[in-house]
Amino acid sequence: MSTTNPVTPTNSNSNERKKITTLTFRRKKSLGEPISVLTAYDYPTALAVDSAEIDAILVGDSLGMVVLGYPNTLPVTMEDMLHHCKAVSRGAKIALLIGDMPFMSYQVSAQDALRNAGRFLQEAGMDAIKLEGGRERLDAVHLITSAGIPVMGHLGLTPQSVNQMGGFRPQGKTASTAKDLLENAILLQEAGCFSLVLESVPARLAELISKQLEIPTIGIGAGVGCDGQVLVTHDLLGLFDRFTPRFVKKYADFHGEMLEAFIRYKEDVTSRSFPSEEYSIDMPDSEWAFFIEQIQANSGPGILEEPHPISKKGAG
Ligand code: KIV
Repeated sequence: MSTTNPVTPTNSNSNERKKITTLTFRRKKSLGEPISVLTAYDYPTALAVDSAEIDAILVGDSLGMVVLGYPNTLPVTMEDMLHHCKAVSRGAKIALLIGDMPFMSYQVSAQDALRNAGRFLQEAGMDAIKLEGGRERLDAVHLITSAGIPVMGHLGLTPQSVNQMGGFRPQGKTASTAKDLLENAILLQEAGCFSLVLESVPARLAELISKQLEIPTIGIGAGVGCDGQVLVTHDLLGLFDRFTPRFVKKYADFHGEMLEAFIRYKEDVTSRSFPSEEYSIDMPDSEWAFFIEQIQANSGPGILEEPHPISKKGAG
């Protein structure tokens, strides 16, 4: 960044808007008001998402793919997650902040899960955590929520189980897997989850589950019948062009714009049209004259004619 001035959040009406909580989620569901959620992994994106009055920010472990360049989310660590959560919590003051528990941070034992969940709130400014899985996670969900930490569940396509699922594939497309999904959703609600992500499941199944549950469902590739929607911000912005899931609507082409800006910058540097006077720093004529006088007094008038040693070398 080129300025040394500290940047403060610019959300002009953040003073009037109330902090979104898990109760807001419940209230919105009961009023039939859709809940909006986006991912963010850094400070400027968190500022923008919060200014757009999006209800919640998920610091998803999708950051492993869209920011860190891994082929899937499995290599993401607790330290990666906490680092990005801290940046997001510095930028967003209103949205409900949800930290995504990475692979192996909650699968080994419920105690381990509780300890790691606590770090998201204690060290990284998150309000809640999200974890993947159904009945096999009930102990962890129970223990974490008993400690006063809100938990968002995640069913359907659960990317941390990509190897078990045989790829990033829609889930719940057969009668038996649909039944299993519904049962798991109810179990997670009973264990204390405040909300549930449904990823890449048939729209009519997601709608039925949403109607069955008291807690709000947040869909991604799960149709319009969910109580809210979430997208990976890098997909929505067209910033991540390695692949785009079919259910993503691209609202911008940031990758294309970024590429074009970089090409124009390179052209400007190569042709020396950047930095023009407008982007250069001047000094008063009197100071310049005094400076020249001083160096000439020290080194003689020839100093101004001698090429700089580096340019001499470059000229070869
Ligand atoms: O990691 C993530 O961003 C997610 C969303 C896709 C729900 O889990």
